[in-house]
Amino acid sequence: MRHLIDPLDFTLEETYKLMDLADRIHDDPAAYQDVATRKRLASLFYEPSTRTRLSFEAAMMNLGGQVIGFPDGGVSSASKGETVADTIRIVSSYADIAAMRHPKEGAPLRASRYSRIPVINAGDGGHSHPTQTLLDMMTIRRRKGTLDGLTIGFCGDLKFGRTVHSLIKSLARCDNMKFVLISPEELRVPDYIISEVLEPRHIPYVETRSLEGALPDLDILYMTRVQRERFFNEEDYVRLKNSYVLNADKLALAPPDMAVLHPLPRVNEITLDVDDDPRAAYFEQATNGVYMRMALIMTLLGLKDPKTGEVAFPC
Ligand code: NCD
Repeated sequence: MRHLIDPLDFTLEETYKLMDLADRIHDDPAAYQDVATRKRLASLFYEPSTRTRLSFEAAMMNLGGQVIGFPDGGVSSASKGETVADTIRIVSSYADIAAMRHPKEGAPLRASRYSRIPVINAGDGGHSHPTQTLLDMMTIRRRKGTLDGLTIGFCGDLKFGRTVHSLIKSLARCDNMKFVLISPEELRVPDYIISEVLEPRHIPYVETRSLEGALPDLDILYMTRVQRERFFNEEDYVRLKNSYVLNADKLALAPPDMAVLHPLPRVNEITLDVDDDPRAAYFEQATNGVYMRMALIMTLLGLKDPKTGEVAFPC
């Protein structure tokens, strides 16, 4: 049995196999509607979520499976002091697979150590968000046709943005990548991303404050929201929240085939006049999330792809 806690829990080869499966589901979802009949997902969300929770639940239902869970730790026994270790021991008797989002970094990892069913990290504090990474990579590959040789700009809150940390870690394994890290000084990527991920692999990167300066050279622009809930004081948030706003005028500086991604929710980092630009990929990214989570659930449960008669890879 395997869990998905960190984006590196799957090799790059396995990640490609998941993307291939998600692409096949994308092209013919009806062929997968009975794959997980009578299987059950536990959706354990201790922190707010719209896309991640609903797309996990939709993914399980699209596969013919069932869903139980809670959308808020306050309505679970966590509010009475139950630990995630005890919760997952119990949930292991009620479901076949669990997706857990938690404000505490490391909570899904801890749960996985006590679990008898596969645990998927659906976001832990400011740390990781591996399933977002899978759907981000799927979207980039569908847009650009490849995951090699790309220049990817990350813009906004690179300090607290867990989607950024996970995506850089995973993409750092692809060939000939370049990263442009666009943020205010206070919201730079954590040092470990530079010293443990980029530098050991000699991956070229620049840190800059200028979105306008970076735009002309990018294949992908990954915008992010300033993560208000992870700030220690509101004043800093208010000062930094509007550091970057992508609008149609700024987008005019970008290559015509660049793609704009955003894990969403957006607050005001992308104005509405960007939504109709063909480079806007953020809504398609959220749609891809359902197909990718279907692929992930199938694979962790060892369910065969009806199209190939095989599992994507053994778990
Ligand atoms: C992200 C998250 O929760 O980390 N949202 C998501 O899952 N799509 C990004 C965010 O909240 O800013």
